[in-house]
Amino acid sequence: MGDELMTGSSQKPLVAAAFGLKPSRYPIWFMRQAGRYLPEYRAVRSKVSFTELCQTPALAAEVTLQPLRRYDLDAAIIFSDILIPCVAMGQTLSFDKGEGPVLSHPVRSQADFAYLKRPVAERDLGYVGEAIAKTKASMRPEQAMIGFAGAPFTVASYMIEGGSSKNFTEVKKLLFTDRSVLTGLLDLIGDVTIDYLTMQVRSGADALMLFDTWAGQLTGLDYREVVFPVTKRVLDTVRQLGVPVTYFPGQGADRLFELAGLGVDVISVDWRTRLSNAQRILQGVGLDVSLQGNLDPQILIGPEAMVRERVRALLSEVRAANPRGHIFNVGHGLLPHTPPESLSWVISELRAQT
Ligand code: CP3
Repeated sequence: MGDELMTGSSQKPLVAAAFGLKPSRYPIWFMRQAGRYLPEYRAVRSKVSFTELCQTPALAAEVTLQPLRRYDLDAAIIFSDILIPCVAMGQTLSFDKGEGPVLSHPVRSQADFAYLKRPVAERDLGYVGEAIAKTKASMRPEQAMIGFAGAPFTVASYMIEGGSSKNFTEVKKLLFTDRSVLTGLLDLIGDVTIDYLTMQVRSGADALMLFDTWAGQLTGLDYREVVFPVTKRVLDTVRQLGVPVTYFPGQGADRLFELAGLGVDVISVDWRTRLSNAQRILQGVGLDVSLQGNLDPQILIGPEAMVRERVRALLSEVRAANPRGHIFNVGHGLLPHTPPESLSWVISELRAQT
């Protein structure tokens, strides 16, 4: 790598690997590394609602930093949620009913759509920018601050269903009977996401990630026709900010076949898909990107020897896949029952092997 490229933020191992440059060490972080598996998170959370936690920069910064105090990580992801912009768009978010998020005013018609507002990111979501700036002040210079948003389709799914869903029936009703409501909503979310991620980079985010957890809930044809264009528009626009951008298409390998022409630096690979298969598919559609992932987060409930063995297995999978860069991570978010010590085993094995 040319020395001229090793300046500024590409000295951060995560940023270098994301751009396909040689990092000074192997970058690692964990999706959902801040959260309920940590007792210090539960202590903060017991005093405030989830939305309040996200909207209070000092508290959001505190829980963002908690995993960095415990573990030798190369990045922090700002503590927030993909559904926070929905609040700025006029919906109410709660987690009271036990099972996952609940959003008021589900979007099922043109009239429901007309109720939504287009937020001004600096004014209506500025607390996320403040949390980023506050967190960054306590991070080491070689650690990357990751900003994020949900991808338009995944956010739209929650906005339409009013929460989590098994069959996405309301989404499919719009797709097959009132498509202009769905495409209008996707375009609005696309615009909001561009403003929101731009604000995060202006506040100090060194890298961005777009979570498309439910990308696998559509046929490949519908994904390509309805979801791909707006996803590409968001990625093309925010990449102009100069920071590396990661896309996570959840739920399996098939979605990777539909990504030809996507402008992105890193694909975060779901745990279900071998990295070597992901790489083969992505190369087949002409995408030369870095990969992130993809330890099965449930492996972390296993004994230490098993966890270490799976870290070594993933490293040989990376060698077989041979992507231009790799960021070590799980292949979906950490779960609340994850034993905190298992993350230390993963990191120490990675450091021992690389
Ligand atoms: O550390 C981090 O990764 C940063 C914070 C973060 C959260 N959610 C915190 C959170 C991030 C990046 C997310 C993304 C997110 N949120 C996604 C995409 C990634 C994925 O997991 O697929 C999705 C689909 C959501 C929506 C969401 N938010 C759900 C389904 C839930 C409920 C989960 C549950 O188990 O109850 C949330 C709530 C949520 N987001 C929690 C956390 C720590 C738990 C809330 C609590 O403390 O009660």
